[in-house]
Amino acid sequence: MIAIHMSSNKEDSKVIIALDYSNKKDTLNLVSKLDKSLCNLKVGYELFLSEGQSLIKELHKREFKIFLDLKLHDIPNTVKRAINVICDYGIWMTNVHVLGGKEMLASAKQVVKKESPETKLIGVTILTSLNDDLLKPLGFSNSVEETVYNFADLCHEAGLDGIVCSAGEAIHIRKKFLDNFLIVTPGIRLKNDTADDQKRVVTPVQAKNNGVSYIVVGRPVTMSSDPLSILKKINNEFNE
Ligand code: C5P
Repeated sequence: MIAIHMSSNKEDSKVIIALDYSNKKDTLNLVSKLDKSLCNLKVGYELFLSEGQSLIKELHKREFKIFLDLKLHDIPNTVKRAINVICDYGIWMTNVHVLGGKEMLASAKQVVKKESPETKLIGVTILTSLNDDLLKPLGFSNSVEETVYNFADLCHEAGLDGIVCSAGEAIHIRKKFLDNFLIVTPGIRLKNDTADDQKRVVTPVQAKNNGVSYIVVGRPVTMSSDPLSILKKINNEFNE
């Protein structure tokens, strides 16, 4: 069994910084400006495909907790085998796509429970880039909201630790499930920030009030000339 790399902070930070970079140099340049007690780090496709496991090791050396965001979506056996590899990395959080179905979700969780019980496995619901009009041609007759609520139920039934959804959907889901069912939400902006390409954005305070457990923040921190001060601001708002 692999130990999860926990940072030394007693309080678990609720902010996850999205490392949307293509190389180690840029990534470590940002990471060196951050405080591990104020954030966890999200490694997505771009960075993982460019730098792989060695970068994960590098970030672990710096005692950050890692959310490996690969949104796995395949038949249960294939996802199980991939999750088995991820479990060897000592990752704090990772995810699968809910569209893989309940059997896939449950079997992925089974592997995590056995191989790396401290790793959080969450389900990606409907991407925030999709709306009702885009969902229809995919064969969905329900709205985005209803679909996300159904997907949250499915994740809960399959024993997952939580979901990724928008802050708007979080209100309803938090009413239904206790705080130990994690709600992870991107699309966070401080008041007066630009929304970039995000369609629906909320402030850290709104996310907190909606029952969100962890907020994912990218550009407001990565594009800032003073990433640490923005990170502190976001933490203060979310922890208020
Ligand atoms: O820069 P920004 O704060 O918009 O970054 C958001 C991060 O959250 C990116 O890494 C993006 O891939 C991720 N994300 C998202 N919407 C989703 C799921 C993930 O923006 N529905």
